[in-house]
Amino acid sequence: MNNTDPLLTEIKISIKDLPNLLVGADTDVPTLNGTERYINFDNAASTPTFKLISESVSSFLQWYSNVHRGTGFKSQLSSWAFEQARDLVADFVGADLKTQVVIFTKNSTEAINRLSYKFILNKDDIVLTTLMEHHSNELPWRRLAKVVHVGLNEDGTINKDEFLDKLKTYGSKIKLVAITGASNVSGYINDLDFFATETHKVGAKIIVDAAQLAPHRSIDMKPSDPAKRLDYLVFSAHKMYAPFGIGVLIGDRKIFEYGDPVTVGGGVVDIVTLEEVYWADLPDKEEAGTPNIVGVVALGSAIRMLEAVGWDDIIKHEAELTAYALEKLNNIDEVTIYGDTNPANAANRLGVISMNIGELPHGLVAAILGYEGAIGVRSGCFCAHTYVKELLNVSDADSKLLEQQILARDRSQIPGTIRASFGIYNTTEEIDKFIVMVKKIARGDYFKDYILNKEKGEYTPNGFSFDFDKFYQL
Ligand SMILES: Cc1ncc(COP(=O)(O)O)c(C=O)c1O
Repeated sequence: MNNTDPLLTEIKISIKDLPNLLVGADTDVPTLNGTERYINFDNAASTPTFKLISESVSSFLQWYSNVHRGTGFKSQLSSWAFEQARDLVADFVGADLKTQVVIFTKNSTEAINRLSYKFILNKDDIVLTTLMEHHSNELPWRRLAKVVHVGLNEDGTINKDEFLDKLKTYGSKIKLVAITGASNVSGYINDLDFFATETHKVGAKIIVDAAQLAPHRSIDMKPSDPAKRLDYLVFSAHKMYAPFGIGVLIGDRKIFEYGDPVTVGGGVVDIVTLEEVYWADLPDKEEAGTPNIVGVVALGSAIRMLEAVGWDDIIKHEAELTAYALEKLNNIDEVTIYGDTNPANAANRLGVISMNIGELPHGLVAAILGYEGAIGVRSGCFCAHTYVKELLNVSDADSKLLEQQILARDRSQIPGTIRASFGIYNTTEEIDKFIVMVKKIARGDYFKDYILNKEKGEYTPNGFSFDFDKFYQL
């Protein structure tokens, strides 16, 4: 952070320039047949960073020092940057720091776990959630409360009628509705205005898991209609171009003011005697130990960058990529897409496409894309087993059988899909290369000697492995 930091001045960044601004944009990687320019279609898992963000972080490093009680200039500057980033996060999602608090965590998973410990005080509390959730927005609730699930429509969207029915059935017993802002499997974006409004009618609160939504849409926790407010929100910086290990939990100050902090230790107290402990004010009370200061600064820079690109351009570009990919994939007979396949709807969803090619195992397809096409995708169930089971119509009987196989350390039959997920820097040329590979795979034109590791469910080409130390050494 210095006066030459491009992110400190009001600038407009053109979406067209983003591919060249990406760190590692022009990286060639080894394949079975030589080397190829790497294509990253695994953005829903984690995004690479941009030069603007990494430069902002490296210029901060010369000022780096621990935050808060340090009196030296560098400590004061670090504290100032750290708190400035907190304000940026609050502005980014329309949080009101008078009534709400921004707590920095490791990631979305930790944020939801933290909230669960503060929010759920009674095992009989009902948390209403959906079959679309990532495990991170399901298992923390399952551990502490009674969890009720809302099912899906045929197309994999959340069944709103069932949601209303369950609200009616359980009424004021529902303490919280836990819902994802967008799916990491199908790319569906949920109608948060509807879910928030109906949640508040029964007197419950809503938490939105915005791990997937935050990098792709603007979020307003406090819209002019208070019924549509979002009470709690979490997201992860590593999915929004700041992979430096920070997550965010935002919510009602009162919940965190009450009782002990979730984690105790240094930094969370006003005074400690042998008899008494007096907790510090928020947010310090919920940020025990030395925080990830560099991660927080990186998130602040990423927010500045997203704002400099602008949501309209981000949405337009990602919709163009998604529509383009869907059009091409729809023309390949062997491809099955899970979720909405209509290119015309691309602006209302994320660029996350889950698919299979014929009867080929998803792990094999993902391996071929990586080893022969230098294309990074992800395959499997994406930490959303229950959702993938529904999307793939896996019967309960098959599911039980698979359970036994997995417990016996055989993951060779595990159902799943491959997932291509786009970021703001991806291009249609990259999609063209992906389509060429998908077509090749569909017609059987690939290396025929992949070996399956049954325990891991992973495929590797016989006689070939990557020499990582030629590329990077610690
Ligand atoms: C919808 C959703 N929620 C939560 C998470 C968990 O995020 P993190 O791994 O950053 O905790 C993910 C990660 O993929 C996700 O896609």
